[in-house]
Amino acid sequence: MLTKTGRLVLKKKKNSKIVCLTAYSKNIAEQIDKYADLILVGDSLGSVLYNFDTTRKVNLSMMIEHSKSVRMGVKKGLMIVDMPFNTYKNKSQALKNCRKVMEETKCDGIKLEGGRNINGIVKHLMKHKIPVMGHIGITPQSVRGKFRYKGKSEIEKKNLLKDAKSLEDAGVFAVVLECIERIASKEITESIKIPTIGIGSSNFCDGQILVTDDLLGLTDTKIKFVKKYADLKSNVRKAIKKFKLDVKKGSYPSIKYSY
Ligand code: KIV
Repeated sequence: MLTKTGRLVLKKKKNSKIVCLTAYSKNIAEQIDKYADLILVGDSLGSVLYNFDTTRKVNLSMMIEHSKSVRMGVKKGLMIVDMPFNTYKNKSQALKNCRKVMEETKCDGIKLEGGRNINGIVKHLMKHKIPVMGHIGITPQSVRGKFRYKGKSEIEKKNLLKDAKSLEDAGVFAVVLECIERIASKEITESIKIPTIGIGSSNFCDGQILVTDDLLGLTDTKIKFVKKYADLKSNVRKAIKKFKLDVKKGSYPSIKYSY
């Protein structure tokens, strides 16, 4: 039988786009699982839910608790958990922490940020049967200050290609390309056999991922690549306002909602 990660690679081969989204809790994960191939418990939860100015402030126990909730909502998709900053600095630390995440959250794999610099760590995790997803381009755990897209200059493109190949060689099953220029993301996608999952990196990638809260209009992000598919903020506001009016009028709870 084909493994879930095997299915992703096959999709790339068949040129069928891979659908990925983030989730931080069960209720949203349940809905995403109906349509997505991969559900990522991203450390973006730091900025989206906790107002952190950097994902560096997210810690392992936050990731584990949110992932346990997501796990309850994911039945068919591949559930991947982001390893937070400073939890995979060397081989033994990475193995200890990734094992803990895999065991406690029952996820299908983990994601690490980095390219050639984490080749040895990824190989070590693979040797111990931990499925790893890569992440190159903008890697928020290492960005200080303003985010700027990558891959426009020849030298940046070459380095990104080297990073992608190094991750493939180390054994990752897929790699996220974050904010990489169109042509560079096309060349990376064509030069490796594993799927590329783009975020702000063009439709040349084998799949796409977005932060679900952005897509649903629950955040106020103005990032160029974010397309809002819903305006949940205003829908939620409307519902709360109706509830308030009903309570004030005394029309809620009516007989129908009383014992
Ligand atoms: O943390 C996150 O949500 C991510 C994705 C946006 C790729 O890394």
